[in-house]
Amino acid sequence: MKPPRRVVVLGATGSIGGSTLKVVARHVDRFRIAALTAGRQAEALDRLAARWDPDYVVLADGADRPQGDQWNGQWRYGRDEVKRAAADPSIPIVVNALVGFAGLESTLAALEAGKRLALANKESLVVGGELVLEAAAAGGGELLPVDSEHSAILQCLGDRPTAEVSRVILTASGGPFRDWPADRFAAIRPEDALAHPTWSMGDKISVDSATLANKALEVIEAHLLFGLDFDRIDVVVHPASIVHSMVEFRDGSTVSQLGYPTMEVPILFALSAPERLSNEFRAFDPVGASPLEFERLRREDFPMFELGVAAGRSGGTAPAVYNAANEVAVRAFLSGRLSFAGIPKLVEMALSRMPATPVESLEHLVSVDAEARSRSIESVGTQPATGGEKTP
Ligand SMILES: NC(=O)c1ccc[n+]([C@@H]2O[C@H](COP(=O)([O-])OP(=O)(O)OC[C@H]3O[C@@H](n4cnc5c(N)ncnc54)[C@H](OP(=O)(O)O)[C@@H]3O)[C@@H](O)[C@H]2O)c1
Repeated sequence: MKPPRRVVVLGATGSIGGSTLKVVARHVDRFRIAALTAGRQAEALDRLAARWDPDYVVLADGADRPQGDQWNGQWRYGRDEVKRAAADPSIPIVVNALVGFAGLESTLAALEAGKRLALANKESLVVGGELVLEAAAAGGGELLPVDSEHSAILQCLGDRPTAEVSRVILTASGGPFRDWPADRFAAIRPEDALAHPTWSMGDKISVDSATLANKALEVIEAHLLFGLDFDRIDVVVHPASIVHSMVEFRDGSTVSQLGYPTMEVPILFALSAPERLSNEFRAFDPVGASPLEFERLRREDFPMFELGVAAGRSGGTAPAVYNAANEVAVRAFLSGRLSFAGIPKLVEMALSRMPATPVESLEHLVSVDAEARSRSIESVGTQPATGGEKTP
């Protein structure tokens, strides 16, 4: 029997990181945790290290192991060490479960080093765009999406070329405000946005799901991963989150992938593909799950969706500006400094002030991200707090 494949989990203390460790725990004959990284949560990282005994752990935003630590192994510190772990030649599989632009360098490092990259950190692909695809091509790395929608599309496509695809249909739960009238949006509080109806996730993606920014990021992700132009990517609301997406082929056949909502299935697939390993999940029950319902997306009420898709269509630096302004807006919303309606206003302002230009290099993207971030932070000061309705 082959030895277990070594895995590094970037963002091990988060929601996807935790789900990844649950998946690995069921397949210890196939995968071994070789390294774990966290942002700030040193105690949580220590507990995980005591459970998994990796070669080393990395704390990105800290310089010391926690007091009373349970694990005696090697600690490394700083954001550069996260990137180094992504490129560690002794570890063939990288799970990037970081949040936001902070994951870009690790995505590039893993792909340049020829790794299998199980990518949850969609922002890095959306922002990095061609740079990420070029890194995969140059390094021979494999890019496997962890997003359930893209995992579904990958599985539905099989070995067929995208030339045979008429369109893909991404499903969206619709988020917590799917059936709220738009005139109630001014009263939305952070806790309302964090209460996702079908998925339990980190704070940033929960807010992105509420504004539908997440679905725009996923449209751009599908465009890049599958080489489909934007006109061949549709979105439909499916509140139960059971049909994970669909591929419509040119012969009129539509293929979909189904399963009850859990991130562990796409994570397992990203680790094991093309092989399918056994899993303990509840099998799909067509009668019990009936009826499967679909609705149109309320694009007019969730401007973050159209803004994001437009940024994707513009290409170049536009997705980086959209992403940076959104990250600032989400943080400001969660801390009560910006209203829910203020999120798209802030992002629209950033996009209008920083027109798209071609991406020259990683350094260029880093500087665009920094500029969009600082302009947005400045603008937050002029925005109304949660519950306000004034425009900037
Ligand atoms: N959650 C889901 O179900 C889901 C589904 C599909 C896609 N995704 C995507 O997966 C990614 C992760 O989402 P999540 O919900 O798992 O997020 P999360 O729960 O907030 O976890 C994020 C992880 O990244 C670490 N981290 C944050 N900022 C960092 C930085 N600057 N440097 C190094 N580490 C940092 C955090 O460490 P500390 O907590 O220790 O600070 C934590 O371990 C996102 O891109 C999201 O869009 C998530």
